[in-house]
Amino acid sequence: MLHETMVEAVGHTPLVKLRCGGGESATVYAKLELQNLFGMKDRVGLQVILDAKADGSLKDGAHIIESSSGTMALGLALVGTYMGHPVHIVTDARTDALTLAKLRAIGSTVEVVREMGPEGWQSTRLGRLAELLDENPEAFCPHQYENPSNPAAYSSAAREIIEDLGRVDVLVASVGSGGSLCGTARALKAANPALRVIAVDAVGSVIFAQPDIPDRLQGGHGNSVVPKNVDLGVIDEIHWMSDAECFQSTLRLALEEKIFAGNSSGCVYKVAEWVARSMGPNQRVVAIFPDRGDRYHHSIFNPDFIQSRNLDRSDLPQTPHQVPYGTVVHQWSRAMLSDPQQGQTRRAGE
Ligand SMILES: Cc1ncc(COP(=O)(O)O)c(C=O)c1O
Repeated sequence: MLHETMVEAVGHTPLVKLRCGGGESATVYAKLELQNLFGMKDRVGLQVILDAKADGSLKDGAHIIESSSGTMALGLALVGTYMGHPVHIVTDARTDALTLAKLRAIGSTVEVVREMGPEGWQSTRLGRLAELLDENPEAFCPHQYENPSNPAAYSSAAREIIEDLGRVDVLVASVGSGGSLCGTARALKAANPALRVIAVDAVGSVIFAQPDIPDRLQGGHGNSVVPKNVDLGVIDEIHWMSDAECFQSTLRLALEEKIFAGNSSGCVYKVAEWVARSMGPNQRVVAIFPDRGDRYHHSIFNPDFIQSRNLDRSDLPQTPHQVPYGTVVHQWSRAMLSDPQQGQTRRAGE
């Protein structure tokens, strides 16, 4: 496929039929967002920048400043620097060396905050971001948690899926800001209002009414704040996964499907596989895989790390425990939101 610019090369990701479905079960297709130039949020970087240029909030040559520890930083740095904007990323000590090297190599500047504040790393980063924006009033900050351009970025992914498959019956995706799941779901639902939408979150993430576990190991998906871009109105069902379940499934995804991906893909894989088994043939499940496994080589793909943290336990459940929404969960669990008695009037975090 020929593209005239790197920016035009964002998206157009493969959709691959997995081995885990088929036969008597539904077929599972993986949307390999990890095959973007950097990862899934290249689409978001592109959309927020184009929208901000169109509405005048990003002037030619103005700075772009954002707090991010991974895929969003890379997407913004890619598109922002390509279009001639200095991009400045505020991050913290948890960001891996590979991501820092990529960010610097393509010409963005990175500021790593060193002190954890009373409310964790996130609050220190947001404090520094606010200072930088005060010092530079012309700068543009995408605010991915509340910016509608974040979910809107995935209408292109949904269009690609519909072009490839036509009808989709179930969408499974992880949730961090809510952009990828809710944006893709809204666009797919426009084509099939009966689409079943399954969100996957980490045990210890507060997005769906759970208590915070700040030292959870899963990253990318999950959050310690509740983003406005999480729209419960499009979600039917939520699954939570523990660190051990998520990491073991990420390892299995590499072994069984040959997809070397990050931990959010791992837990989405487990849920997609499970839901396909509960459905009949001729049904289609689409699973979104956000990033590659490279930056997890010291953790998930390091047997010493897995053993030292007791993440290789063999007593993990093979099916989710069904709970009413609001029940505190510790292992693979699911709650329904589309029950008319329950979720329709809820907001994320409640
Ligand atoms: C690797 C990875 N997976 C999943 C997510 C969650 O995606 P979203 O923010 O669209 O909810 C993110 C978000 O940053 C991520 O970086």
